[in-house]
Amino acid sequence: MQQILQMNFPARLVFGNHTIAQMVDELVHLKSSRVAIVTIPALQYSIHPMLNQLSAAGIEVLLDEGISTEPYFTDLDRLVDYFTPFGPDTVLGIGGGSVLDIAKLLAALLDNEQTVHEVVGNGLLKKRTKKLICAPATSGTGSEVSPNAILIDDADGQKKGIISPFLLPDLVLVDPVLTSSVPSSVTAATGLDALTHCIEAYTNKFSNPFTDVFALEGIRLIAANLLDAVTDGNNLEAREKLSMGSMYGGFCLGPVNTAAVHALAYPLGTMFHVAHGLSNAVLLPHVMEFNIPAAVEKYAAVAGALGVALDADLHAMALKGIVRIREIMQACNVPENLRSMGVTQSDIPIMAQEAMKIQRLLKNNPRTVVLEDAINIYEKTC
Ligand SMILES: [Fe+2]
Repeated sequence: MQQILQMNFPARLVFGNHTIAQMVDELVHLKSSRVAIVTIPALQYSIHPMLNQLSAAGIEVLLDEGISTEPYFTDLDRLVDYFTPFGPDTVLGIGGGSVLDIAKLLAALLDNEQTVHEVVGNGLLKKRTKKLICAPATSGTGSEVSPNAILIDDADGQKKGIISPFLLPDLVLVDPVLTSSVPSSVTAATGLDALTHCIEAYTNKFSNPFTDVFALEGIRLIAANLLDAVTDGNNLEAREKLSMGSMYGGFCLGPVNTAAVHALAYPLGTMFHVAHGLSNAVLLPHVMEFNIPAAVEKYAAVAGALGVALDADLHAMALKGIVRIREIMQACNVPENLRSMGVTQSDIPIMAQEAMKIQRLLKNNPRTVVLEDAINIYEKTC
């Protein structure tokens, strides 16, 4: 069955080391005069010069630094209440995926009669009246270039996805230097999340030649540079390549999105508060092993992008890709099982039931996943 490719890009992209210095010019160009900034305290040092420049340019700023973990609906409500009296014309998110996701939704829901509950799902958001700028400070979610945002619903503890072209920024400014202060464990986990986006996009049931280009090159960039960035956070060349790979993964999220790794990772986040990147990383080799029989050629190509030598036996080559992923995880000191995260065998049935609810991602998986499969995969990780 032929799939229709639908792709929306941000209006403008600026990528390069130290480009945060041109943020003020960009804001002036966008005719922004009142800017709501969502960021985190750890970036204070990096964005301090920019704040001074904004003040000198007569641009009013109101700052929130309260989003430190994966955000809930109530966090968004709080931000809307906090920023509404300020009357911003622009929302600027500078941070990791959580900050960017909530900044995107904040820009959409300020001065909007729709509530967050009304926009959960695909294409339900009707408008955005505020300008939006995203500047990622981790190399992971690719949220800066995707039309997706994820929030946790306080009512049922489930992660809910909001997907809309109105969540794409007017400007994406990727300054890899912003990622240099990220601790090695977070660099590893977020990098493996980005790698998972690329692998799940390339092996996706709805993959297409356009996103395949981004996905395969993203795998190559991340696999070749993750360990260097984890070992030396100030290695700007590795940081730059990782940021590019992460962004490539983000380009795939709108048209094809992720699959079973992310679906099975969701309960680890909501039930055990395991970081998003880490939960994906632990599951990735096991889901790859499960999927290979349904997509041998694709997983052999994934292995090639991971650095595995060509092999006429595609199945053997695909399996070597899993070995390569494990080598990267071990070198980056990423835990390889769920036991170390407090998950026990008795938790698996409920986790599997929860994962099966994420059909919007499971439908993308190259091999059909039923409840028993989910249980088997979780058991291998425990
Ligand atoms: Fe992810």
